[in-house]
Amino acid sequence: MTFKKATWPRKLRSQEWFGGTSRDHIYHRSWMKNQGLPADLFDGRPVIGICNTWSELTPCNAHLRDLAQRVKHGIYEAGGLPLEFPVFSPGESSLRPTAMMYRNLCAMDVEEALRANPLDGVVLMVGCDKTTPALMMGAASVDIPAIAVTGGPMLSGQWRGQTLGSGTALWQMSEMVKSGELNQTDFLDAEQAMSRSPGSCNTMGTASSMASMVEALGMALSGNAAIPAVDSRRRVMAQLTGRRIVDMVKDDLKPSDILTRNAFENAIRTNGAIGGSTNAVIHLLAIAGRIGVDLTLEDWDRLGRDIPTIVNLMPSGQHLMEDFYYAGGLPVVLKSLLDGGKLHADALTVSGQSIAEDIGDVQNWNEDVIRPVEQALTQQGGIAVLKGNLAPNGAVIKPSAASPHLMQHTGRAVVFEDIDDYKARINDDALDVDETCIMVMKNCGPRGYPGMAEVGNMGLPPKVLKKGIKDMVRISDARMSGTAYGTVVLHTSPEAAMGGPLAIVQNGDMIEIDVANRRLHLDLSQEEIERRLSGWVAPVGRPVSGYARLFHDHVEGADKGADFDFLTGSRGHAVPRDSH
Ligand code: FES
Repeated sequence: MTFKKATWPRKLRSQEWFGGTSRDHIYHRSWMKNQGLPADLFDGRPVIGICNTWSELTPCNAHLRDLAQRVKHGIYEAGGLPLEFPVFSPGESSLRPTAMMYRNLCAMDVEEALRANPLDGVVLMVGCDKTTPALMMGAASVDIPAIAVTGGPMLSGQWRGQTLGSGTALWQMSEMVKSGELNQTDFLDAEQAMSRSPGSCNTMGTASSMASMVEALGMALSGNAAIPAVDSRRRVMAQLTGRRIVDMVKDDLKPSDILTRNAFENAIRTNGAIGGSTNAVIHLLAIAGRIGVDLTLEDWDRLGRDIPTIVNLMPSGQHLMEDFYYAGGLPVVLKSLLDGGKLHADALTVSGQSIAEDIGDVQNWNEDVIRPVEQALTQQGGIAVLKGNLAPNGAVIKPSAASPHLMQHTGRAVVFEDIDDYKARINDDALDVDETCIMVMKNCGPRGYPGMAEVGNMGLPPKVLKKGIKDMVRISDARMSGTAYGTVVLHTSPEAAMGGPLAIVQNGDMIEIDVANRRLHLDLSQEEIERRLSGWVAPVGRPVSGYARLFHDHVEGADKGADFDFLTGSRGHAVPRDSH
């Protein structure tokens, strides 16, 4: 921890707009004053943006305007001027073709809005899956003081005496309908019971994982990740966040001070301990790319290898985010890592203290929810990165969500050329498949889908489900919802639509997966792979125009975080050209 506070008072960036008597200064101030802002609010105090992903089309973030009011209270209390603004909000549940296609669009929106406006610092209001990494990416590229506050998870789903986890219950019930264990009427009845309150998915899905990543990275106040959206303490957290950003601006505590390599290593280990989403791999790679930290898939494998998963939450375990909060939340997990020598104790956080100081003397209030290390769900909780001739640049699997008996398996490939092919044939009883086969799906990567949809956890064929089989090995270049589970190999890179070896797998080819040895092997000679690749034709046409064209031309592989090639790196806050 080498951070040295800036001196205060000093002239802030916002004063370039507001701090003078020229025509332009009057212009900037006067128009702002049409909102009824008193003159003394432009006296050189920190101007704080509240970057809000509120949207009724992003239901997980639909309560963020209310929460922003609490942030404003905090900013005013600490002597700052809050100015709330909207950015494109990529909502997970409705956006087509997939919210992931718009993560980078949101990140661009955030970056440009922060740089172009008279802001000295920013509070990032996030929640739903893609909103968190997008705002972190944009803020990292501008590198003004920034702090995140998440919207918090929904209350636990409750239905007929059962606890329903967001997403996880949906996938399970859908399979039960197919196997005949649940009827459609009951499935529909459970719909409202799954989503009982404002907030993000209540499982340890991508939203909860990313909220935990933000806290482990040191970019949110300690304890932020798990507080339920409707708990009064979520509002308190928002208010304290508002107070804190003002001091961060005075100290000039920036993302580049916090988002060090050690911070990312802490986050990767934390993801193993919480049984976090595979999506965190992509998002952390992208955030690291924005701040100049050379993070790789190998780091994920190396750092996560010996991390036990101690958080007993769905989809890997049994409980939900509400239970996690009542047990003590993420600080208890960080303490466990710290005690095990798996956390860089001196990593700086938004508090201005080290992460160890933030954690303090926390207590675990429920050892079934946050397990002691000796009773971990699995001792190998990290994301495993597989490599081989089927994934030269790597693929990932989440061992804690997979079936132990399938972690080493050789099977006959049953190939789907894309998601439409899968949907068209999966329910056909004539499909030549049994539980020993390996289901392969192509063309669902960043360029192929486009946007790399969460379709990698392909539902099993009904004729296999009816035998009582719950899991099969599945391989694709897609992602998987953080709420999903199964022996699912994802993010196979290079993707099929960019000519990766996945593109030439055929029905009947034998594939070997060996998680312990990190191996993903297509049982063909190199000559045969090259012969097939020489005849390969890209299945995806280049979009003629629009954002889809930009995305197609510039999105990078999953192994690099699927950011745009021209957006990696930090560009700072200097305005390229001032027009006034
Ligand atoms: Fe928004 Fe899960 S769909 S957090």
